[in-house]
Amino acid sequence: MNYVLPELETLEPVEGEKATLTLPDGRQVDLPVLRGTHGPKVVDVQKLYRDTGYFTYDPGFMSTASCDSSITYIDGERGILLHRGYPIEELAAKASFIEVCYLLLYGKLPDAGELAAFDDSITHHTLVHEKLKTFLNGYRRDAHPMAVMVGTVGALSAFYHEETDVTDPEERDLATHRIIAKMATICAMASNYAIGQPFVYPQNDLDYAANFLHMCFSVPTERMQVTLVQARAMNRFLVLHADHEQNASAATVRIAGSSQANPYACVAAGIASLWGPAHGGANEAVLKMLEEIGTRDNILMFLKRAKDKTDPFRLMGFGHRVYKNYDPRARVLRDSCHEVLDELDKRDEPVFALAMELERIALEDDYFVSRKLFPNVDFYSGIMLRAMGFPTEMFPPLFALGRTVGWISQWHEMIQSPNQRIDRPRQRYTGAPIRNYVPLEQR
Ligand code: SDX
Repeated sequence: MNYVLPELETLEPVEGEKATLTLPDGRQVDLPVLRGTHGPKVVDVQKLYRDTGYFTYDPGFMSTASCDSSITYIDGERGILLHRGYPIEELAAKASFIEVCYLLLYGKLPDAGELAAFDDSITHHTLVHEKLKTFLNGYRRDAHPMAVMVGTVGALSAFYHEETDVTDPEERDLATHRIIAKMATICAMASNYAIGQPFVYPQNDLDYAANFLHMCFSVPTERMQVTLVQARAMNRFLVLHADHEQNASAATVRIAGSSQANPYACVAAGIASLWGPAHGGANEAVLKMLEEIGTRDNILMFLKRAKDKTDPFRLMGFGHRVYKNYDPRARVLRDSCHEVLDELDKRDEPVFALAMELERIALEDDYFVSRKLFPNVDFYSGIMLRAMGFPTEMFPPLFALGRTVGWISQWHEMIQSPNQRIDRPRQRYTGAPIRNYVPLEQR
């Protein structure tokens, strides 16, 4: 049964639509207004500085469209997320992660032949150079897995540098397949390393999600028997994390790639940005927060702290720059949580019951309701991952695994756009006025 599509206004281009800006000195400048397929119109300010000597000013990019993109659309007010036009709810319920990877990279759902060829290519790029193990083994045993991921993915740029001419379409395409394939192996290696177990080779007879679980949980003496529910939960987790428009880490990859840098190094930059607790590090922070809250009796005290401006504590897993409604991914992940906990007979998992109670109370609290602070994708993902047996510090690397296809699809779209140029924002200078050097003896 098909998902009932919400009504979404489709905009038609309007020739000559403009906005007029009146400057303090009385000059007036017409700025073109452009329309996308859905969503806000944009005022094109590309020539503003050349024509007026003024910059626009938008720290945090609250009102800035940094590029054109046809990959993902988010309606934050209505909690809508589309990938190439397809609602996330349908993709999470019906598509394999490899299918979604093809969709994000190439803009259409593959037919059976295209899917088989793409899946075969990804499968046959999952091995990493044996020397990469030496590199990874150089980390301290207690290194955070995201530190391992940043360094190891960055190191891939040293293993494939001779085949990453970003102006060559074939080499670009090969790099996208290699990055998607090898990220699963590297993420599993980071997990093995964190718990002191040997690295596990990928198996070509497993699909992407099952292969990843195999590499994380099999041991040389016993191959993990991946159940259908576990593979489906992993697949759904990856689909729900695949891309999210111009979030901080995707924008990081775009900016890094705009200088025509090595794509592996650009993805490493994305991993670094995602690691922050305000971004993809929040799923780990949610679990630590729930463990700190401990029982339902403590919820109100923590909500009080979250509202206290003098207290740096924030309710992790709540709020979003774009969603001012329920994050549609959180809703799907909550259902997946139920399924996985039931299948693993962990339905009475106290942390899950606590999370549900925290969500219920927060969504009745005026502070959160008035600021439209709803649960986001990170709120439930950690609970499901922990139920699946992942250590808490592995949650951000798993987010990075899902998001890799989004990063590399955004990079691919950026690097091949006809007017691609280096991203170089300006600033409002608030430093010292011009002055002469003061000799040391006069200071
Ligand atoms: C992800 O961009 C993406 O798409 C990201 C992501 C993706 O898929 O790539 O969706 C993944 O990063 C999800 C977000 C995960 N982060 C967290 O869960 C950390 C907790 N959330 C907050 O740090 C915050 O909500 C952000 C960072 C997510 C959004 O920050 P904004 O848009 O800058 O919002 P803000 O800080 O301006 O907050 C507005 C108000 C403030 O209060 P007032 O000054 O208006 O009184 O809401 C308050 C904030 O103090 N607020 C919170 C809060 N989040 C915002 N108060 C308590 N707890 C929170 N979680």
